This record gives sequence, structure tokens and C-alpha cells, in this order.
Amino acid sequence: MRPLTLLSLLLLPTLALAEEPWGKVDRNAAPALHDKACISCHTRMYGGDGSKMYTRDGRMLSTKLELLQRVAACNAQVSAGWFPEDEGSVAAWLNDKYYHFKE
Ligand code: HEC
Repeated sequence: MRPLTLLSLLLLPTLALAEEPWGKVDRNAAPALHDKACISCHTRMYGGDGSKMYTRDGRMLSTKLELLQRVAACNAQVSAGWFPEDEGSVAAWLNDKYYHFKE
């Protein structure tokens, strides 16, 4: 095998992971984090469980990266004190549940 081929084989898994802006995260942590810090305002604005914030017409986001950045911005704004991996976990979970962005 040529050295270059070997190198690209070694890099492949890294590239596959790098496609997700939040990296490898534990989505199981997300619901509790989200319940605690994120529902109050969204519910006040949209009623129900507040999830209409994520499905409303004219929502502001269109990529995974924007979603992650928005989660990080809300975290900073409300001083939830989340670590980057918490932001990543919630962004990934919101994407699975509501946004379904492919990129
Ligand atoms: C202080 C009230 C408040 C809290 C608490 C809050 N948000 Fe928000 N959030 C807003 C408002 C207001 C908007 C809409 C901003 C707009 O329409 O310009 C928003 C919008 C969003 C959006 C974008 C919705 C769209 O258009 O697709 C996301 C994602 C989001 N918030 C995530 C979170 C997360 C994650 C948390 C918990 C860390 C959180 N929010 C906590 C007020 C809040």
C-alpha cells in the first residue's frame, strides 16, 4: 500500500466526525439540561412546551453550525453555565428532534 493511501485511510474517521460541528456528544444529557435552562422563555412566547420556537415559520436557522451557535448564544445570554459539550449535546438533540439539518 502506498504511504499516501494509508494516510488517507487514517484520516477518514477524523473527517467523518468533523462533519458534525458539535463533534461526538452524549445526547442523553440534553433533555434535562434543556428542561432546566431553556423552556421558560420559549413557553412564555409560544405556549405549550415551547417547542414551537424550533418549528415556527420564519425561524432564523438553516445549518447545524448556526444551530450550535444559537444554542451557545442562548446559553451565554441566560448564564446557564453550560460547558461546550453541553451546548453540543443540546444542539445535536434539537437537530434530531426538530431541525433535521443535514449540514
Ligand atoms: C431569556 C429567555 C430565553 C431563554 C431562557 C432561552 N431562550 Fe432561546 N430564544 C429566546 C428568544 C426571545 C428567541 C427568539 C429570538 C428571535 O426571534 O430573534 C430564542 C430563540 C432560540 C432558538 C432559535 C429558534 C429558531 O428560530 O429556530 C434556539 C435554538 C434557542 N432559542 C435555544 C435556546 C436554548 C438551547 C436555551 C437554553 C440554554 C434557550 N434558548 C433559552 C429566548 C430565550
